[in-house]
Amino acid sequence: MHNWVTATPEMRRNGLASPAAVSAALFLRQWIAHPRRMGGMMPSSPALARLIARLVVVGGDGAVLELGPGTGALTAALLEAGLAEERLILVEIDDRLHDHLRHRFPGVEVLHGDAASLTDLIPAGRRQQISTVVSSLPMLCIPAAVQRVIVDQCFAATGPKGRLIQYTYSLSRRSPLDQRRLGLRGRRVGWILGNLPPVTVWRYRRATDFTPPTARDGARGPGRDRPRSRAG
Ligand SMILES: C[S@@+](CC[C@H](N)C(=O)[O-])C[C@H]1O[C@@H](n2cnc3c(N)ncnc32)[C@H](O)[C@@H]1O
Repeated sequence: MHNWVTATPEMRRNGLASPAAVSAALFLRQWIAHPRRMGGMMPSSPALARLIARLVVVGGDGAVLELGPGTGALTAALLEAGLAEERLILVEIDDRLHDHLRHRFPGVEVLHGDAASLTDLIPAGRRQQISTVVSSLPMLCIPAAVQRVIVDQCFAATGPKGRLIQYTYSLSRRSPLDQRRLGLRGRRVGWILGNLPPVTVWRYRRATDFTPPTARDGARGPGRDRPRSRAG
């Protein structure tokens, strides 16, 4: 398994001994550059990452798709929990974070792009292996039409039995995704007050009465309603 405690070249360049400090500094820098897209100033705490990792089925055959891995706090926890590297796919929009992740997790598939373009980013054969999607995308900052594109592409990959786990910086009891409009059934499965900021975790399935979108509904791409900020 990848030894995530080993310093990456970027960590060494920065002359920082602690990978956690390097991750925090990089995260903060990218937050200053793209606050809405980053959604928070700091990587998830180890407690949060472990909670999410417990919700993801690490045994079994299906692949796990992580949307918005940032500096890799959850990625590391998933690998530590026993998820095999080849069962993990990361999609990160930020080019610096993408670079960082590639060095930090050389055995993991790290894709650079927009979660609203999964169909273009992940080859069909690989998409069909995905059983769980875990997202920390800042959904509260993402327009509703783009949320729909992301959710539809996630479930197009996993099939109706797939699950989407979403963690969001919010203490609200309300779902960060509009379940009725997006054809989801979900429940809040956890919250962490000790994270900065506090986080709520939801798990969703596809609603059984959901009608799959047609190409005309815009399921393939974000169209006009893309997230406002893009990788710089
Ligand atoms: C709140 S941070 C979470 C980072 C990390 N998962 C953690 O728990 O520390 C959100 C991450 O989503 C990424 N992101 C935002 N919009 C995205 C999009 N449309 N496609 C892919 N990644 C995106 C950001 O660049 C950032 O890394």
